[in-house]
Amino acid sequence: MRVEMHFTPHQVDEMSLHDNTIVVVDVLRASTTIATGLCNGAREFIPTTTVESAVKISGNLFGGVVLLGGERNGRMIEGFHLGNSPVEYSGEKVKGKTIVFSSTNGSMAMVKARYAREMFVCGFVNISVVYDCIKELGADFTVLCAGKNGMFSIEDSVCAGMLVHKLVSDSSFDVELSDGALAALTLYKSFGKNIQKMIKGSEHGKYLAEIGFGEDLKVCASVDTVPVVPQLVGNVVKLKRDAESNEVAKVPVSS
Ligand code: MLT
Repeated sequence: MRVEMHFTPHQVDEMSLHDNTIVVVDVLRASTTIATGLCNGAREFIPTTTVESAVKISGNLFGGVVLLGGERNGRMIEGFHLGNSPVEYSGEKVKGKTIVFSSTNGSMAMVKARYAREMFVCGFVNISVVYDCIKELGADFTVLCAGKNGMFSIEDSVCAGMLVHKLVSDSSFDVELSDGALAALTLYKSFGKNIQKMIKGSEHGKYLAEIGFGEDLKVCASVDTVPVVPQLVGNVVKLKRDAESNEVAKVPVSS
């Protein structure tokens, strides 16, 4: 099984991901938020790259069941119902809702992976269940880290490295790592011992703490607390088990 690694989506040609198995990682905070929202009963997330397309898509869907969620510069977008803090995505707010979602980097990575054979959304909070899916598929896969504005981010890379570590520790596979996957594994071995500390010291972690989202860092650093697998089906991210029941919302392509 070969593992490829992209540390940011910016240079990635979406057609190169065509027909691959992709794991999108945006620890701070889109992966954590989407896993939390789906775990708390949200029907689905529709990732979009721009605020304008989010507003347009939400306008084409039924009023009462649709929420706009996401951020720019870490803060809720004006006119949206929810930001990008996982703690906002409680059952009370999101149960049964379709969330049209636009975050700066995570959404872009998810939209880039729209032609994948399978795409899973992964953070520390759901890493073991995502690993179980990868293991079950037993096929080559690519990790696509969201990064930050086209740059490397330590928290996504360490999370990607943890996934690689699970794989290389599993004797059932012959594993071939790309240089990027090997680098991520090495980072995990150095920083994975204290994930909370690593996240607190990351550039985006420090920024989020500065703007008042310090509590989110603990939530995003916790391992296996939200054991659900968000999977892209068409243009919609839903729980893997719902995705398997083949229930795809009819929405426009959301780039
Ligand atoms: C993103 O997609 O850029 C992030 O999730 C930003 C954030 O922390 O809200």
